[in-house]
Amino acid sequence: MTDAGAHGASGTRDGPGDGGSPDPAAAGLTRAEMEAAALEGRQVAGRLEKATAVRLLNEGEVSVVGRLVTASNSTFFCLVQGPDPESGRSVAASVVYKPVRGERPLYDFPDGTLACREAAAYAFSEASGWEIIPPTVLRDGPFGEGMVQLWVEVDESVDLAELIQSDNAALRRMAVLDAVMNNADRKGGHLLPLPDGRVQGCDNGLCFAVEPKLRTVLWRWRGQPLTDEERTVLERLHEEMAGRLGDELVPLLTPAEVRATSRRIEALLEAGRLPRPDRNRPAIPWPPY
Ligand SMILES: Nc1ncnc2c1ncn2[C@@H]1O[C@H](COP(=O)(O)OP(=O)(O)OP(=O)(O)O)[C@@H](O)[C@H]1O
Ligand SMILES: [Mg+2]
Repeated sequence: MTDAGAHGASGTRDGPGDGGSPDPAAAGLTRAEMEAAALEGRQVAGRLEKATAVRLLNEGEVSVVGRLVTASNSTFFCLVQGPDPESGRSVAASVVYKPVRGERPLYDFPDGTLACREAAAYAFSEASGWEIIPPTVLRDGPFGEGMVQLWVEVDESVDLAELIQSDNAALRRMAVLDAVMNNADRKGGHLLPLPDGRVQGCDNGLCFAVEPKLRTVLWRWRGQPLTDEERTVLERLHEEMAGRLGDELVPLLTPAEVRATSRRIEALLEAGRLPRPDRNRPAIPWPPY
């Protein structure tokens, strides 16, 4: 994508990549070329297998190349670099890094960290099998612990307002998962339409509150009966809450938030429908894009 400028990306030229020195990196790019690409919102790694991406995110070396100055929290464009076990060569990828230290305190999310909530959201996305969220890990970085998420290049020709009104299967799945996660911030700008037609979502930190807070632009399917596939996935998620998924959530959320998430899955299955907006609280995030 080329609207990184619109996001207000500001580069750091005093970091580890201030020259054009060749670096053993993805696609034979020099360090300076990779930094420029990352700042423009391009993925320098090309297409990475998910497992490779997750390993790189967890184990690679993170270096900051710029900051999204318009973002409300401290959100950085970074490169993560490390050895690829397949080829033995060094690979690099563009990522977003949000250090916990840069998180603004939020009165309605007083517990834990947004980074942990983003990691918990990724765990849900993976457990669902729907791949709604790009690979996301919790790890140490240049400014301390935070979340690191693979940057995905979006199809800029997609009109987000049109997309939101379309009957897009990926968006519907996202709406179901957002209801489970109680996402309070599913705005248009957090939708990432991929060139292959899939849609993923970023900025999933405002999820998992105990109180109902669903705020989203994805109301198109409100009140519609769950499909068989959605039921099956919800039933599986509910089961996994008592197993591996539940274990993953323990260090990321409060016990009350974990319990409330299980209860939301039960309520969705019992209702058999996607939720409708609650008249007593805001249904749409502000600003919506
Ligand atoms: N993994 C990603 N891949 C591609 N684009 C991303 C990714 N993460 C974030 N972005 C882009 O960067 C923008 C800002 O990121 P994000 O919303 O996560 O930060 P923020 O600190 O919450 O900022 P804001 O207050 O503007 O929402 C997103 O709206 C999206 O356009
Ligand atoms: Mg955001």
